[in-house]
Amino acid sequence: MKKKKKEMIITCAFPYSNGFIHIGHLLEHIQADIWVRFNKLIGNKVYFICSDDTHGTAIMLKAIIKKTIPKNIIFEMYKSHIIEFKKFNIEYDKYYFTHNKENKILTNLLFDRLKHNGYIKKKICKQLYDIKKKIFLPDRFIKGKCPKCYAYNQYGDNCEICGAFYKSTELIKPKSTITGLKPIIKKTTHYFLKLFLFKKKINNWLNLKVIQNNVLNKVLEWFKKEIKAWNISRNNPYFGFKIPGENKKYFYVWFDALIGYIGTFKILCNYNKKINFDNFWYKKTKIELYHFIGKDIIYFHSLFWPSILEGSNLRKPTKLFVHGHITINNNKISKSKKTYININYYFKKKNSDFLRYYYASKLSNSIKDIEFNIKNFIEIINNDIINKLANLISRNSSFINNYYYNKLSNTLKYSKIYQIFINESKNISNLYINMKFDIIINIIMKLVDLANFYINIKKPWYLFKKKLYNNKLQMICTIGINLFKILITYLKPILPIFTFKSEFLLNTKLTWIGIKKPLLGNKIKKFKKFFHRIKLNEIL
Ligand code: 2FM
Ligand code: ZN
Repeated sequence: MKKKKKEMIITCAFPYSNGFIHIGHLLEHIQADIWVRFNKLIGNKVYFICSDDTHGTAIMLKAIIKKTIPKNIIFEMYKSHIIEFKKFNIEYDKYYFTHNKENKILTNLLFDRLKHNGYIKKKICKQLYDIKKKIFLPDRFIKGKCPKCYAYNQYGDNCEICGAFYKSTELIKPKSTITGLKPIIKKTTHYFLKLFLFKKKINNWLNLKVIQNNVLNKVLEWFKKEIKAWNISRNNPYFGFKIPGENKKYFYVWFDALIGYIGTFKILCNYNKKINFDNFWYKKTKIELYHFIGKDIIYFHSLFWPSILEGSNLRKPTKLFVHGHITINNNKISKSKKTYININYYFKKKNSDFLRYYYASKLSNSIKDIEFNIKNFIEIINNDIINKLANLISRNSSFINNYYYNKLSNTLKYSKIYQIFINESKNISNLYINMKFDIIINIIMKLVDLANFYINIKKPWYLFKKKLYNNKLQMICTIGINLFKILITYLKPILPIFTFKSEFLLNTKLTWIGIKKPLLGNKIKKFKKFFHRIKLNEIL
């Protein structure tokens, strides 16, 4: 029986508007894009969406430094982010930004529903206040000594040295970064989402295998502790959506960013009138929803987000795919380090398939960090892509080009090896679905070795030297080319540029159902070198 095609929304975490896209972000967007491309390849209907996360205090600070307004920064960064993602062939069906009308309407709507359903409370809290400016200070407008490790010059929400999270009122010797004065503690009211009311529902949801096992254990640990209400409002000055009925209060950036998943989808629907927005969000919908996220934002997606959805009577995510971070020389990415700058600069101008392949070769469905090592990167690309894959096609197509008027044989007589290659398709398909890209690459490298070994044994050049331009030589090369075709179809979600060049050369579109159908009697194009080897001095 034919398997029913699935329909799904796939998202990446929204990058902040206040910074450029770097190789750290790209890990997630590449991982998701590979998964999206695979799902599309097997015929599923996928909507791949993302946005810039535009609100909050970081962007306000940036605007102040640049003597401009946040909106200008949003637009500049949006243009830059889109260009970067395109360069790496991340093919979003819609990429937008959260500061938009649809998202505002939805944020208000969900807030209303949560309030109406009894999940919101207003509470008086203490906050730091700048008496000269007469404003409550946002966390990023306060600096002081970390209450945990006593590091100087830390912001009011968390310490960049020890990673601790705290309230701004806990900061030692706080100072307003606007006036330099010591702020006073003043009472104010805030809106809170009563997260503890969702504990049971979220627990049930977590038990549906929505996250990897080791992530689940971490989340269950949090659940054992007290779940506090979540403050979803911020006082003026703030850049965000105003809370209806309030004069000087805004929604906290994380509240409208999460709702931005729905908002971005709504924007997509505005462009594509054939999509029925409501079908995707009602509680019992069968349509799937997948979020790719880094391990630093598990809490937001495993607790805050499903609670917002549950409390608003909407569907919850089907799965969260959590990944680790990129490290360089075993350290977190530091934008000021020379290696980081060189790598980013290198990828600005180079073939994006290389980074996609490198990441795929390291990505399993785990939250372990991934080390970006330049030597290892060069070794893998030169060895796998240039020496093995590109070599397989170049050595076979040159004979077909030069001695058979570009035409492949009409039959495939020695088909045992071909069968071995086809037989892997089910396994590879499962590995894609389960996000084990590293194993896929391993299997493909074994197959390409086998294909090259086959050609080495059959020695087409030997027949050529003996001037035996007969069917046998043509057939060996036809088999070599067909093995290559299968491998590139397997790699299609990972290598868009290599695929494009291969499809052009083979004069055919590579499809998953086409794996079993060999190219016979077809005319191929003249082979031109696909890629050049990478040299260390190109990067360093
Ligand atoms: O951590 C981050 O980079 C956030 N901007 C991710 C937001 S994901 C979603 F909520 F939009
Ligand atoms: Zn600290």
